[in-house]
Formats: sequence, structure tokens, C-alpha cells
Amino acid sequence: MEKLTGLKKVKIAVFISGTGSNLKNLIKFSKTKKSPILIDLIISNTFSAKGLMYADLFNIKKKIFNFKNNITAEKNILIFLNKHKINFICLAGFMKILSKGFIKKFKGKIINIHPSLLPKYKGLNTHERAIKNNDAFTGCTVHYVTGKLDSGKIVMQRKVKITAKDNSILLAKRVLKEEHKLYPAAILKIFN
Ligand code: GRF
Repeated sequence: MEKLTGLKKVKIAVFISGTGSNLKNLIKFSKTKKSPILIDLIISNTFSAKGLMYADLFNIKKKIFNFKNNITAEKNILIFLNKHKINFICLAGFMKILSKGFIKKFKGKIINIHPSLLPKYKGLNTHERAIKNNDAFTGCTVHYVTGKLDSGKIVMQRKVKITAKDNSILLAKRVLKEEHKLYPAAILKIFN
């Protein structure tokens, strides 16, 4: 990948659809001295994404794109990203699948966080599936985004033990805690 860091911080757009705890965590990380990133934009496909409140709270630009027509939405997002000179995209609970064409425009510059130890449990309901299969461990993964869902090169993972008392809600909470450690660590690994 082309070297993005130097003296300047890498300009990031974070894409969200939900609560935004990873977004909040990344914003906090971006304000630390060691952070190679600056979060310049928050993008969502829905006004109901709770995480949008962090845009106002931390004074970051936000924009919501209507995905009724995916092609138009992606076209408008690309224009917006270029206008703001965004170098890199972090997906954090973004529930739309980006097209191959879009990904090509940001080749090697989009990462995602996924709540399982990929390549296990691509897609949704990862915790339910791990419990149902009596797995001893699950975890989370930061990976590059390619045209194939949850299949790009893995940057980093963290493991979480599954206990006999676990249900998907309890497990999701513990995995999310690890996600908050993993995402900044993965970004440091990429840019340092
Ligand atoms: C996380 O579990 C992430 O791994 C998945 O969606 C969830 C987003 O959570 N892709 P939040 O919105 O960051 O709290």
C-alpha cells in the first residue's frame, strides 16, 4: 500500500449505521499523541444511527446518504470523500455492503471490524453461531475490505473465551470491549 503517513495525519472517514461505540473509541484514540489518524468525517446510511451524536459532541462533520439507490449513494459518497481529501475509510458497524466499484476506488484503503475470528462466521449473528457450535473461543477481527464479504486480508484479531453461562448478549458485550482495544491497535499496525 502507498505510504500514507508522514508528518501529516491520515484523514479518515468512519462509516456507521448504529450505536457507534467503535466510532467513539476511535475518536478518543485519534486525539492521543501516538495516533496516526485524524477523523475528519462521519458517514452513515441512516439518520437513526445513534453514533451520529458523536459528530456533534466532538465537532466532526457528518453526512447521511440515502441508500434507496445504492449506485447514487456511493457516487455521492465518493464525491464527498474526494472533496474532503479523505485518504482512508474505517467501517464500524456500517450495515451496507459497498460495491466492488466503490472498493476499487479506495483499493487497500478500507478496513472493517467484525465480531468473530474470521474466517469463521462471516456475515451476521456471529455470537449466536459461535455459541451454538460450542466453540471455546470467539473474538473480533480487523480486516481489509474487498469485493468479497468479510474476506479481505486480516490485520489483527483478539480472542474472547466463551463460557458455559454465555448467551449472545453477554458475549457481544465482552467482544465489544475487545473490539475497542483492537481497532486502534490495528490502525497503529497499519500506519507505523
Ligand atoms: C460491532 O460489533 C462491530 O464488530 C460490528 O458492528 C458492531 C458495531 O458496534 N461490525 P458499534 O456501533 O461500534 O457500537
